[in-house]
Amino acid sequence: MLDLSGRVALVTGAGQGVGAGIATVLAEQGATVWVNDLFEDRAEAVAAQVGGKAVPFDVTDLDAVRAGVATVGPVDVLVNNAGIPTAGFPQVDFKDSDPELWRRFVDLNLYGVMNCTHATVSGMCERGWGRVITISSEAGRVGAPIRVSLYGAAKAGAIGLMKHLAHEVGPLGVTCNALALGPMEGVPADPSQNAIPRWGKPRDIGAMTAFLASDEAEWITGQVIPVNGGVIT
Ligand SMILES: NC(=O)c1ccc[n+]([C@@H]2O[C@H](COP(=O)([O-])OP(=O)(O)OC[C@H]3O[C@@H](n4cnc5c(N)ncnc54)[C@H](O)[C@@H]3O)[C@@H](O)[C@H]2O)c1
Repeated sequence: MLDLSGRVALVTGAGQGVGAGIATVLAEQGATVWVNDLFEDRAEAVAAQVGGKAVPFDVTDLDAVRAGVATVGPVDVLVNNAGIPTAGFPQVDFKDSDPELWRRFVDLNLYGVMNCTHATVSGMCERGWGRVITISSEAGRVGAPIRVSLYGAAKAGAIGLMKHLAHEVGPLGVTCNALALGPMEGVPADPSQNAIPRWGKPRDIGAMTAFLASDEAEWITGQVIPVNGGVIT
């Protein structure tokens, strides 16, 4: 089960946090892992830890994405993980929000996913096998009173892309899914009332990603899968 040897995986925003955990688990299952991040030093450090290679670029810049993908070569597994704006994550009511702030969330969480997916999915279709796995959020699947409408809108957009793209590329051997993450370690809140009374760890997300990347998951596509410790049921 979950033998990813021979597969080439590109994980965006993998220089820390969730993406680093995904890169670690994919590498443990035998994949050749390319670690992307906006920051070269982060990408290099995680690549060294997991025995992978670094490919720094900005996922919001389509030309940079295409150049990065050209460096990698054929990508079998794309994990669209980059998603928290490096300029910060303000919680603000939508009615009070500055339109420039809208752009920050949509550029990263929707255009970033479209750029990387567009740059890799044609090759997957030509080769007859591929996996596109997008790290979304419960904030993109359900509404909540936590003042993250902009983030939720962009995360929901990426879920919509996966659902529809799944139909376009499924007959060509490519699956497309989204994970809806619950709060991960570091979120300032008390998880003691969750079904599993802790916040998520990067390896929790890595495990589900590795499964979706496997041959065994070939009949799972167009789905948004909560990975949340039972915080939202
Ligand atoms: N942390 C949580 O509680 C949580 C909850 C739900 C969903 N998520 C999702 O999980 C994913 C990872 O989150 P995290 O908490 O590990 O974030 P993080 O901020 O710890 O790490 C994200 C990495 O992405 C990189 N990055 C940012 N912008 C980039 C860009 N334009 N191009 C390339 N790399 C870029 C950053 O440099 C950083 O190293 C995101 O998509 C996020 O929305 C996180």
